[in-house]
Amino acid sequence: MKAADVMALEKQYILQTYKRPPFVLSHGRGCWVYDSEERKYLDAGSGIAVSALGHQNYYIVEAIKYAADGLLHTSNLYYTQPQAELARALCESCDMADKVFFTNSGTEANEGALKFARKWARAQGHEAKTGLVAFTGSFHGRTMGALSLTATAKYRTPFEPLVAESYFAEYNNLDSAAQVINDHTCGVIVEPVQGEGGVTPATAEFLAGLRELCNKHNALLIFDEVQCGLGRTGTLWAHQDYEVNPDMMTIAKPLGGGLPIGAILVNEKVATVMQPGDHGSTFAGGPFVCSVANSVLYHINDDKFLIHVKLVGHHLHRKLEKLVAQSPLLESVRGRGLMWGVVTKIPAVEIMAEAYNHGLLVLVAGEKVLRILPPLIIKEHEVDELIERLQATLEAVG
Ligand SMILES: Cc1ncc(COP(=O)(O)O)c(C=O)c1O
Repeated sequence: MKAADVMALEKQYILQTYKRPPFVLSHGRGCWVYDSEERKYLDAGSGIAVSALGHQNYYIVEAIKYAADGLLHTSNLYYTQPQAELARALCESCDMADKVFFTNSGTEANEGALKFARKWARAQGHEAKTGLVAFTGSFHGRTMGALSLTATAKYRTPFEPLVAESYFAEYNNLDSAAQVINDHTCGVIVEPVQGEGGVTPATAEFLAGLRELCNKHNALLIFDEVQCGLGRTGTLWAHQDYEVNPDMMTIAKPLGGGLPIGAILVNEKVATVMQPGDHGSTFAGGPFVCSVANSVLYHINDDKFLIHVKLVGHHLHRKLEKLVAQSPLLESVRGRGLMWGVVTKIPAVEIMAEAYNHGLLVLVAGEKVLRILPPLIIKEHEVDELIERLQATLEAVG
């Protein structure tokens, strides 16, 4: 089918909730994707932080072939080995987790965590302890519960009224958090490094202060590591850089190597209150996707791999700093590992759109932040190519 025909079909039959660029992606390898006319793009967005091991990764393809030989689906009514093994690997990957609940996406993981917080508070005998707190710049998903804790007004307003007892404080401002978190709060959800909101890392004092506030008011601290987790920041979990443990952590994006899977990791305190029937999912944590996820986690949770993310991340950071110093269109750069936000002086979508013409896929995070999330397997020479393509883009826009 010709690209124009695919685009026409899309326009006719798909709900127009996305603005897509005028080409059709057809295949990929490593950090590169190709369109149906064989144009080549360096994928510096990883399908929004998903393709951490790149496209057509040999180990993922082999894991898929192996998993396809087994059961694809059983529902959660039955035991399966890949699910149990993945849960063990996740719990052993960090200090905070004792048990796991699997989901199909990051949104669902957050939705579940919010429900768990309410259930946990009720189990303490506090019927009125229902408050949920999130922060400015947050993104936790688009379902009613997750959206209630997502800050962006344009995502929220058309769907109000949202879930009651949802409150916001200012990100990285402990005084603001202290005004909102109180004895009626059951859960506080925060991204250790905000993604959609502009690629903003939390300060160490902020996360430590939130932990203290949650302890003081007997509330659960939830880290949303859907975007910043699983090696993206150079440690397996972003919060490991902060030495603050949450009570729950939500994860998703890269875990399935491109297949949909998410999870809520909880500590014993939360685990003990969740009983049969309290939450569920038909598809989540199926044997096929868990088998593939076991392989992805095995590859990312490797010291050498994480050192690579840090080293190549430093290289990208240095190069981006140089670009900021040279370009009149750029203001500053912030981030960690291979998760970078470049603050722009013009609407970032203009740069993103021009980048397509230079064979580069980048993302935006809000109005004036260009978001760069290459596959974690990216090599130094590919980072150099990314920068060259971005530089050419900036010159064309400027
Ligand atoms: C921090 C964060 N939480 C939750 C979500 C929602 O995840 P999903 O799109 O898998 O539902 C996202 C998606 O971008 C995210 O970045």
